[in-house]
Amino acid sequence: MPDRIRLDGRVAVVTGAAGVIGAATVRLLAERGARIVAIDRRTEDLKAVIGDLPASAEAVAVGADVTVEDDVLRYVGVAMDRFGRIDVFFNNAGIEGEVKPITDYSLDAFRRVIDVNVVGVFLGLKHVLAVMLKQNAGSIINTASIAGLLGSPHTAVYSASKHAVIGLTKSVATECAGTGVRVNCVCPGLIESRMLGAIFEGRYGSTATPPRAIERVPARRLGQADEVAAIVAFLASDDASYVSGSAYTVDGGRTAG
Ligand SMILES: NC(=O)c1ccc[n+]([C@@H]2O[C@H](COP(=O)([O-])OP(=O)(O)OC[C@H]3O[C@@H](n4cnc5c(N)ncnc54)[C@H](O)[C@@H]3O)[C@@H](O)[C@H]2O)c1
Repeated sequence: MPDRIRLDGRVAVVTGAAGVIGAATVRLLAERGARIVAIDRRTEDLKAVIGDLPASAEAVAVGADVTVEDDVLRYVGVAMDRFGRIDVFFNNAGIEGEVKPITDYSLDAFRRVIDVNVVGVFLGLKHVLAVMLKQNAGSIINTASIAGLLGSPHTAVYSASKHAVIGLTKSVATECAGTGVRVNCVCPGLIESRMLGAIFEGRYGSTATPPRAIERVPARRLGQADEVAAIVAFLASDDASYVSGSAYTVDGGRTAG
C-alpha cells in the first residue's frame, strides 16, 4: 500500500507513550518519518517501546508525570533542546480510575482521575501550545474517548474527565484562530487493551468482553490501538490542514446510532 501520510522530520511529542495506544502511535509516527519525544511515568516500559523502534528512528524517552507542571516544562525543554521545535503533540496519557457507582466513589479517586485526565491535558496544552504559537505551526491531538460523548455506568468520573477534554479541545481550537496551529481530539471506542478489561471488570466482574458490548458496535468487533494511531497520524499531517476543533470518533460506529 502506498505510504500516503508522511511526517518526515516532524517532531512529535507523545504522552502516555508506554501505554497501548501511545506505543502504537509512537511506532506509526516513527515509521512515517517523525522524530519522537516519548513521555510516560513508567520509565522501564517506555524504554522498551523506544527500544523496539526501527534503528533508523530518532527518539528520546522522558520519564515524567503529566500532572506535575515542572515535569511538563522539562519534557517540553527536552524536545526543544534536542530538536528545536514541536510539530505534533499527542496529549494522550490517561487513567480509567476506579470503576464503581458514584455513591461508592471516593473523593481521592475522583480527584486523581481529574488530575491526570484533565489537569495533565491542560498542562500539556498550555506549555506545548506556547511553543507552537511562536512557530505559528503545529497540530495538537488530545485523547478523549466516546466516554466524552456518552454516559455509561460506573465510569461517571472518567466520562466527566473526557467530556472536559472535548471542551478544552474545542475551546483551545477557537483560541488558535488565525494561527497555523490546529487542535483536535480523538474519541476511541472499545479498544482491545488493559484499560478496557479493567472497565469491564469493574462493571461486570470479569475482564472478558461481554457479547452485549460487541452487539452495540456496528463493526461487531473491538478496535485495535493501531486504528487509533492511524487517525492520530492523519490529524498530525498536512492532509488534515482544514481539520480543527473536531472530536474524531474511532469507534466502529458505536456512537452513530
Ligand atoms: N483503551 C481504550 O479502550 C480507550 C478508549 C478510549 C480512550 N482511551 C484513552 O486513551 C488513552 C490511552 O489509553 P490506553 O488504553 O493506551 O491506556 P494505558 O493504560 O495502556 O496507557 C496510558 C499510559 O498513560 C500513562 N500515564 C498515566 N498517568 C500518567 C501520568 N500522571 N504521567 C505520565 N504518564 C501517565 C500510563 O503509565 C500508561 O502508560 C487514555 O487517555 C485513555 O483514557 C482508551
